[in-house]
Amino acid sequence: MKEHKSFSTHERDRLLKAAREVAKKAYAPYSKFKVGAAILTEQGNIFTGCNVENASYGLTICAERAAIFSAIAGEGGDKMKIRALAVLNDRDLPCPPCGACRQVIYELGALAIVIYSGKRKLETKPASELLPNGFKIC
Ligand code: THU
Repeated sequence: MKEHKSFSTHERDRLLKAAREVAKKAYAPYSKFKVGAAILTEQGNIFTGCNVENASYGLTICAERAAIFSAIAGEGGDKMKIRALAVLNDRDLPCPPCGACRQVIYELGALAIVIYSGKRKLETKPASELLPNGFKIC
């Protein structure tokens, strides 16, 4: 079995801070639920994203996917791999990544560590645990 990624306490703190900061920028006039996500890439860079809603509700993009797409644009599609991803919201409510985001995280970081607000505390789980048997074209 492949090893899950590790990262330092310092990197974890940086990620959480970045996720918290970017949540403030979310465009969420409909749900009023502002979410921020930050990614630590294999190369050691941090990229962020927030949720962006739309009057046509289904077009909304989650913070996690916004952060991942920004990381792809920042580093280049083939190189970018997620080492860790943190997702927080402005109300500190439980917010595990949605199913669609889990599949996108899996695509670019099957071994990544995901940190999110749980019921009482921050949860830290490998992406593979959040999405067992994720879809991949081999
Ligand atoms: N949302 C995220 O950004 N990430 C998640 O993992 C779950 C939900 C956003 C989408 C929508 O703008 C708002 O939260 C309420 O569902």
